[in-house]
Amino acid sequence: MSGKDRLIIFDTTMRDGEQSPGAAMSREEKVRIAKALERMRVDVIEAGFPIASPGDFEAVQAVAEAVKDSTVCGLARALDKDIDRAGEALKKAASGRIHTFIATSPIHMQHKLRMTPEQVLEQAVHAVKRARQYTDDVEFSAEDAVRSEVDFMCRVFEATIKAGARTINVPDTVGYSLPGLWGERMRKLIESVPNADKVVWSTHCHNDLGMAVANSLSAVLAGARQVECTINGLGERAGNASLEEVVMAVKVRRDIFTCDTNIDTTQIVPTSRLVSQITGYPVQPNKAVVGANAFAHESGIHQDGVLKSRETYEIMRAQDVGWSTNKLTLGKLSGRNAFRARLQEIGIQLGGEEALNAAFARFKELADKKSEIFDEDLQALVSETYQEENERIKLSYLRVCSETGTQPEAQLTLTVDGEECRAQAAGGGPVDAAFKAIESVVNSGAQLQLYSVNNITSGTDSQGEVTVRLEKGGRIVNGQGADTDIVIASAKAYINGLNKILEPLQRQHPQQVSL
Ligand code: KIV
Ligand code: ZN
Repeated sequence: MSGKDRLIIFDTTMRDGEQSPGAAMSREEKVRIAKALERMRVDVIEAGFPIASPGDFEAVQAVAEAVKDSTVCGLARALDKDIDRAGEALKKAASGRIHTFIATSPIHMQHKLRMTPEQVLEQAVHAVKRARQYTDDVEFSAEDAVRSEVDFMCRVFEATIKAGARTINVPDTVGYSLPGLWGERMRKLIESVPNADKVVWSTHCHNDLGMAVANSLSAVLAGARQVECTINGLGERAGNASLEEVVMAVKVRRDIFTCDTNIDTTQIVPTSRLVSQITGYPVQPNKAVVGANAFAHESGIHQDGVLKSRETYEIMRAQDVGWSTNKLTLGKLSGRNAFRARLQEIGIQLGGEEALNAAFARFKELADKKSEIFDEDLQALVSETYQEENERIKLSYLRVCSETGTQPEAQLTLTVDGEECRAQAAGGGPVDAAFKAIESVVNSGAQLQLYSVNNITSGTDSQGEVTVRLEKGGRIVNGQGADTDIVIASAKAYINGLNKILEPLQRQHPQQVSL
């Protein structure tokens, strides 16, 4: 124990992070991420926005049942129907929190809510009281706090504290603030709001000007004791404050911060990879802490210095953030029990024997092609097993011919709603030919916005993990596929994206009003 204050880490990867284009997660994916966050000892996991859709409700419910050591939180606008839905979804949580919010800035109140400040204040108080009927752990957020008048916010916070909020969150919803200003705002609020000492003050910063982490840390220096953040900085528009950067800044600069987190930092890199793999958002190589280059020393001078004494150029150790957690896990001779045991160790609970058998069959196929199977391979394999369960379009066969001087051609067989369809097409390259052959069957009309390939582990026999982003009628989805053959991985990713884009959309965005 450090004897310092506790800095609460509130992860919103599965709520605000999920608001990134195409990053929607299924119930199973959320449970896997939640288990990884729990292993990392995240204090609060915001699992979603239960009123958004039946799928979101079920996902929050499943996370609430699966997680025992972290608090599970559901988001609710300051509306009875939202709060009731969140309360219902969290019923089985060992520790559940309702996070309710309403905008307090003149621009949002006038144009979005069409409400007077007095109506907003009244609704905020009513929402907190209603949420308290479900749990003692209620958080209130003043959306767009950055552009709200401080005196009005003080009144709203005073009243919501009196109504029973335990955490008061101050969001920079549009990523407009600067570190000095944000810290000053937090300090002013804590000094001015009556009973400020009865609640935890929280900060929630967006990254539109690249300031989310700096602003969050400035708020912590001014007295905030909860930071809302996401793995890999995922989130609406330019994202949220990145969890790994906030946590490591507080840890590395313990000489400056008077508080400490409870995070097991060795879980950072594995969790970052899991989130990237599930959402289809690759991590940029030069990203702090979790980027592939974060601990790579390219220049000769740096290498020399690091070999003589690591501290010459490194302020933290790669193994402290989980770079060496990449364990060789299983091989060709590993049996079903070893496979099941390793899945359990990395927090994957497959739903029943059938799912385990399907995943094990895939594992054996992969082990024939690749001698060493790592945890990242297992994560990709399990994702595919879940994906395929509900997909209308499946890839049964693919053959691609590619040679110098000729146009590549693809032949394939798809199963669409149980019916076999064959197709062939030529293209500019093997991937283009495969995508054209798929489109000749599906005729989706979707536009390919992004295509990227990354290796899951190192070595030329590594699986390639392909992400495609598809757009149709303004809707964006990400599709993923993994295989030791990157053309097959590409076809799988494209089909995964098509399956998502063909599903009817029923989700509601939390910051859209429908009263
Ligand atoms: O950015 C924001 O204001 C939010 C709130 C819902 C807390 O995400
Ligand atoms: Zn936000």
